[in-house]
Amino acid sequence: MKPTITLNAIALVVALGFTSCGKQTGTSQAERTANAVASYVAPGEKDEYYLFYSGGHSGQVYVAGIPSLRHISTIPVFAPYPATGYGFDEESKKMLGDFSWGDVHHPALSQTNSKYDGRWLFVNDNANNRIARIDLHDFKTHQILGPIPNSIGNHGSSFITENSEYILCATRFSVPLPKGRVADPKDYEKEFNGMVSGIKVDPKTGEMKVGWQILTPPFDWDLGSTGKRPSSGWAFWTSYNTEMAHDTLEVNSTQKDRDLAAVVNWRAAEEAVADGKAEMMDGVPIIDPARVPGVLYFVPIGKSPHGMDVDPTGKWIVAGGKLQPATTVLNFEKVQAAINNKTFEGEFRGVPILKYEAVVEGEVPVGLGPLHTQYDGKGNAYTSMFIDSCIVKWKLPPWTDEEKKDLTKVVLDKVPAHFSTGHLVVAGSDTAQPYGKWCVAMNKLSAGRHINVGPSQPESSQLIDISGEKMKMIAEAYTEPEPHFAQILKVSDVQPTEVYPKDENKDPNAVWEKAQGGVTRNGNQVVAKLMAIRSRFNPDRIDAQVGDELTVHVTNVEQTRDMIHGFGLIEHNINMVMDPGETKTFHIKLTKPGVFPFYCTNFCSALHQEMQGYLVVWKPGEGPSGASGAVGGTK
Ligand code: CUA
Repeated sequence: MKPTITLNAIALVVALGFTSCGKQTGTSQAERTANAVASYVAPGEKDEYYLFYSGGHSGQVYVAGIPSLRHISTIPVFAPYPATGYGFDEESKKMLGDFSWGDVHHPALSQTNSKYDGRWLFVNDNANNRIARIDLHDFKTHQILGPIPNSIGNHGSSFITENSEYILCATRFSVPLPKGRVADPKDYEKEFNGMVSGIKVDPKTGEMKVGWQILTPPFDWDLGSTGKRPSSGWAFWTSYNTEMAHDTLEVNSTQKDRDLAAVVNWRAAEEAVADGKAEMMDGVPIIDPARVPGVLYFVPIGKSPHGMDVDPTGKWIVAGGKLQPATTVLNFEKVQAAINNKTFEGEFRGVPILKYEAVVEGEVPVGLGPLHTQYDGKGNAYTSMFIDSCIVKWKLPPWTDEEKKDLTKVVLDKVPAHFSTGHLVVAGSDTAQPYGKWCVAMNKLSAGRHINVGPSQPESSQLIDISGEKMKMIAEAYTEPEPHFAQILKVSDVQPTEVYPKDENKDPNAVWEKAQGGVTRNGNQVVAKLMAIRSRFNPDRIDAQVGDELTVHVTNVEQTRDMIHGFGLIEHNINMVMDPGETKTFHIKLTKPGVFPFYCTNFCSALHQEMQGYLVVWKPGEGPSGASGAVGGTK
């Protein structure tokens, strides 16, 4: 079972722009009408599903509705977002730390018993080695963990285990470890290492902490997924660059016909750490898989593979070989048997390599550039084809003898996607019970299918109805760069709050009545507690002087949906937004004298424009109360 097409042949195909999916055929008026109705959500009606899609290097997560594909909101995660004041108040500034961007790749909804439980959404940051937790209670980022020690290029995450015990991560890059150690990249094989990390999730609060890590050779780990049911306790990642090249990877990392995927027994890793078999590095217990057998195995996968996705039954693991015109289907029972019977074809640095023929169920000839595979829970797989620009539907095993002889027979349908599909998502694919019904193709190029917006181009997303035997392309929308994977959650499976109840606000500086607000001074520390209510701040005057440290707490005392107030301070780069019942805080050192208006930035009422006040920064020794004074005007 050798790959049947060479890299050169694929390069030629790409250069010629030929694709086996062909052009999209014209759509009849009747089909246009039917498709429009299928994705139409009339004014006042609501979508049936949330689409949470990663925003790539925009650092954010976007929320759209399905079937409308309309963008509904943006959840800021790794980058400041003035629209919600994210990255300006003290709490979110602290979460962002020294970084003002991230590279969000793979969102993962929390699961209980392999089903979405509607509690959290975890996303990874490939650039700065972090993981963030969004609470679906309020659709906001509540924790950013990292940079994770001993982890560089946190791309192969965030993959959640079936009861949200762990977020599992693998590194895209390798460096000399621990971080900060320097070695010449020419000594890559000897000095550099990759890492698999187990990020422990608190089952009650969702709070994350680094649990343990497994040291790996310096392969570039790519995408993965976690096991369920029979493959419970296991996780899988593809890799590229098992050549361990350190330069010109385009050529040097694509020499071998097969790269080595990782088969990780994360429960064994957890036990090994508990048994004291790990060594500490940068504060984290590290497992050397050569010394702790049973934690890590390799399996060869052709060629320069990308996605590796476990199906809803937990039996089949499908890898897409970017440079091979087929997906590789592993049989988890055979993986277990090969491990138990030691059916190995060698080892690499003390880690057994499972014999390819012993664990593979088949190679399905889906076409060119298979990347990721998703499932509908009815025995069908859907693979995104980067080179062919299409989605291919095919049948998972078990296959008949006739099908096994000629696996082209299990390829059921292809639908063109525009253009160069990266990820795709089928609703609930990574659970034991997918919703099915809808698939979204996330395409890397929008190729001028939208009105001309100049050279800075959006990405395209396409909605495909997969409920019937044949797939149907229904609608198309554009997204900010750039979505890498998404999660689809049924609206009825989550109950977010729309107002923060007053009695749940535990901020000691919250003020709920006029009398509680005011401005106080202690030395050069000036503290202002403001209440925001339609359509005023109370107090609406803060007096201080140059050299003071000013802390402002603003509480939005509204308890009504949509009644959001902002606080923008002229020429101080201060922008907070308080949702109903929320208190936010900023802290600045006052360096320039003057009178600086502050105002409500979020349109809240007919008299929103009137919702304003003044920060008066006196020169030292001046002002109504002299050098030590501070006043807060109240009405
Ligand atoms: Cu408050 Cu606008």
